[in-house]
Amino acid sequence: MASNDPERMARPLPAIDLDAARTGAHDRYRAAHPNSAAADTRARVVLPGGNTRSVLDFDPFPFRVHRAEGPYLFDIDNHRYIDFCGNYTAGLLGHSPDDIKKAVIDGLDSGWSFGATHEREVELAELICERFVSIDQVRFTNSGTEANLMAIGTALAVTGRKTVGVFERGYHGGVLAFGPDAGGPHHQLNVPFDFRVAPFNDIDAIDGFITDDMGCVLVEAVQGSGGCRPASTEFLQALRQRCDQTGTVLIFDEVMTSRLAPGGAQERFGVTPDMTTLGKYLGGGMTFGAFGGARRLMAAFDSDAGGTLTQAGTFNNNVVSMTAAVATLQTQLTPARLTDVNERGDRLRVGLDQAFAASSLPMWASGMGSMVCIHSSDDRLSELAFHHALADELYFARRGFIGLSMAITDEHVDALVGSLACFAESLTG
Ligand SMILES: Cc1ncc(COP(=O)(O)O)c(C=O)c1O
Repeated sequence: MASNDPERMARPLPAIDLDAARTGAHDRYRAAHPNSAAADTRARVVLPGGNTRSVLDFDPFPFRVHRAEGPYLFDIDNHRYIDFCGNYTAGLLGHSPDDIKKAVIDGLDSGWSFGATHEREVELAELICERFVSIDQVRFTNSGTEANLMAIGTALAVTGRKTVGVFERGYHGGVLAFGPDAGGPHHQLNVPFDFRVAPFNDIDAIDGFITDDMGCVLVEAVQGSGGCRPASTEFLQALRQRCDQTGTVLIFDEVMTSRLAPGGAQERFGVTPDMTTLGKYLGGGMTFGAFGGARRLMAAFDSDAGGTLTQAGTFNNNVVSMTAAVATLQTQLTPARLTDVNERGDRLRVGLDQAFAASSLPMWASGMGSMVCIHSSDDRLSELAFHHALADELYFARRGFIGLSMAITDEHVDALVGSLACFAESLTG
């Protein structure tokens, strides 16, 4: 199911007053969250909008978490939510897994702010190069955004070109965001690269889009923030072919999608980019980013190989992230566990979509594996679904995004499908 399903989009809205329903949902939420309401008032004095990550905000105010464990988030009003948001895919492991905690605490025994090289970063680089076929060499950053900025910068420096190809609804970080209202108020902070934007999954547009003045193309194999929209294999193959023809560096942003298979989406789709960016869950829940690729490109950072680029970043090799990432790769990300979480995600997506299909609501679910997104033709419906699930102590992102974690069980999946089936029935039944 695509993220803009025309048949479902065309379904009529339910014959209820959606604005009144929304007000009612807000009133019930307010009554159930007095402590979060007070915390929000306090926060707004010193944090614009009451937060420091805009996506976490929702109406009437977000609940404040004081603890997280396994599949659960506990808020300051004594609610225990099953967490389907999974920190927008960064929480793949579930909350606070013991082996990551132990590795980090053990690591801290040796100190943590060296300002010098150490062995953990080498160990991590080896694990990553082993795992992702496109990565011969890798460098670390503190976020996925930074990884993408560095990958783009590397590609432009190596090719001596200026144009950067991206796709509508692509999201590569807060300063690299391209939809759905590209150029709109949400994207005023985009960095001033010379971007060229093309429709996603449109094979016919590729030849005119990627020309031999284009330094790199940055693409998500499954658009995450853009609504969990998978690329077709043919589209990725066509990008690969056209980049080879024009000498353009093909970069896969695998900050989210690397969870889709042990070797990332590149393994799952069978298309190998020139460079790959990583982040989110690979740091075991710590701040993390990485960019890597073919040796001929990454050699730009190796002065012994004639490279002239330097990479700065006080915390690039910070001991906590390096240690947590090593433990994550060694103990958590086994092929069997990744297969399991992605199969459960498929089951969730199909279950949700069938529940919406069975109702007459203009709603549907899209995605691939453990990346799932709930859509509707009217944002008020999405908001009502979100609040309905919250009232059942089930949390996913306000915009409908679900990043399934390994702590989520089949029973949790059934609970969410059941809750949203009841929601659909209550509006249409
Ligand atoms: C595909 C993709 N790339 C990059 C980023 C940016 O990562 P970070 O938030 O760590 O900067 C995100 C974050 O959501 C993402 O989804």
